[in-house]
Amino acid sequence: MHIVHIAVEMAPIAKVGGLGDVVTSLSRAVQDLNHSVDIILPKYDCMKISHVKDLHYQRSYSWGGTEIKVWFGKVEGLSVYFLEPQNGMFWAGCVYGCKNDGERFGFFCHAALEFLQQSGFHPDIIHCHDWSSAPVAWLFKDHYMHYGLSKSRVVFTIHNLEFGANNIGKAMAYSDKATTVSPTYSREISGNPLIASHLHKFHGILNGIDPDIWDPYNDTYIPVPYTSENVVEGKRAAKEALQQRLGLKRADLPLVGIITRLTHQKGIHLIKHAIWRTLERGGQVVLLGSAPDPRVQNDFVNLANHLHSSHHDRARLCLTYDEPLSHLIYAGADFILVPSIFEPCGLTQLTAMRYGSIAVVRKTGGLFDTVFDVDHDKERAKAQGLEPNGFNFDGADPAGVDYALNRAISAWYDGRDWFNSLCKKVMEQDWSWNKPALDYLELYHSARK
Ligand code: ADP
Ligand code: GLC
Repeated sequence: MHIVHIAVEMAPIAKVGGLGDVVTSLSRAVQDLNHSVDIILPKYDCMKISHVKDLHYQRSYSWGGTEIKVWFGKVEGLSVYFLEPQNGMFWAGCVYGCKNDGERFGFFCHAALEFLQQSGFHPDIIHCHDWSSAPVAWLFKDHYMHYGLSKSRVVFTIHNLEFGANNIGKAMAYSDKATTVSPTYSREISGNPLIASHLHKFHGILNGIDPDIWDPYNDTYIPVPYTSENVVEGKRAAKEALQQRLGLKRADLPLVGIITRLTHQKGIHLIKHAIWRTLERGGQVVLLGSAPDPRVQNDFVNLANHLHSSHHDRARLCLTYDEPLSHLIYAGADFILVPSIFEPCGLTQLTAMRYGSIAVVRKTGGLFDTVFDVDHDKERAKAQGLEPNGFNFDGADPAGVDYALNRAISAWYDGRDWFNSLCKKVMEQDWSWNKPALDYLELYHSARK
């Protein structure tokens, strides 16, 4: 099968959040199953070009009164076509954040379909993502399916229903199949008017992570390579390196890590509460996060200043985006906290587990589907063929997060052998694309029937 993703994010060259990770990792998994995958992406001026192999100019075409240059290169072993409209739409220094984002990405979607048609491509599946490449679905049905691309079918994935309702509603109506990124989130949003009338073609398929991209045995950002066999030694070295890098002094205390966009979705009030609770319990906190809203960013800068003076030896808030530091935190933390108010899938808890860190999460969306409480979810885990792997909580108030965090921190203090064996166990669970990629292939096949 030939699958073409039309997307506006792709890790690691143009990643803002998990959507970028998924475009790369799902594509790699499907390609590894011997299918052919191409990706079409805008050529941003801010792209991390050093991660693109053999980037070269291919040709130009004209669309919408604009010359569009086509570049080709390889990213993580995937073929990527970069479209560069000469009207400068993607020379804005950012992926999102322009006043005319809707217009920019609408133009890109149209240009991408035009590129496929003019190049004589006949993909079996055109896969588009979220509001930003949703226009592909209706542009295809209005026009391109009647011309060169009649053999293709369109699959649309919702990574987050919070943004771009108009676009999402239209893509739900026009796509052949639609998915979202976990079974529980698919149930949570199934009553939404944008979704409710399309349930016959709507599926929740859990995201995976790429075990080669996130691999503590092959990670240049951490000091000692490790697998589940030497997890204690590997994590100890990573924790020491993290402490040293951030100027924290006490490697003998439990360390709670938080890696997140700082937005309402991620449970900002619970994050703040958890920082104080952890410090009260004698633990350490490292937060790596940035807020798109300057007021929220400023609020956290103030909190960071306060904490860095009052709890200098045990708290660090790094209010930026830093890929290498995120690897060191996944490896060096004892816990990764994800108290999201809603979470379509969530990748940080999966990456945490890959690095032997214990997830502490709110029971919502994909967090509910992947984290099974050691005290309460034995049966639910067993039904998935798993053993419990973390701590979770209900509710959106401080009492909920306290309930999970207190048990997690106590478990660390009380039973080091038990805790170390839990770290080993979670590392051995498979949160890769092995199974979900097969689910996508089945969905792609069914779209073609
Ligand atoms: P979302 O897409 O809603 O932000 P996910 O959990 O799906 O949430 O994906 C977030 C991705 O972005 C993960 O790969 C995480 O490691 C990464 N990430 C989030 N914030 C930062 C940051 N400040 N620095 C580095 N990586 C980050
Ligand atoms: C979105 C969601 C997140 C999901 C990611 C990848 O950004 O917020 O939960 O993991 O997309 O699908």
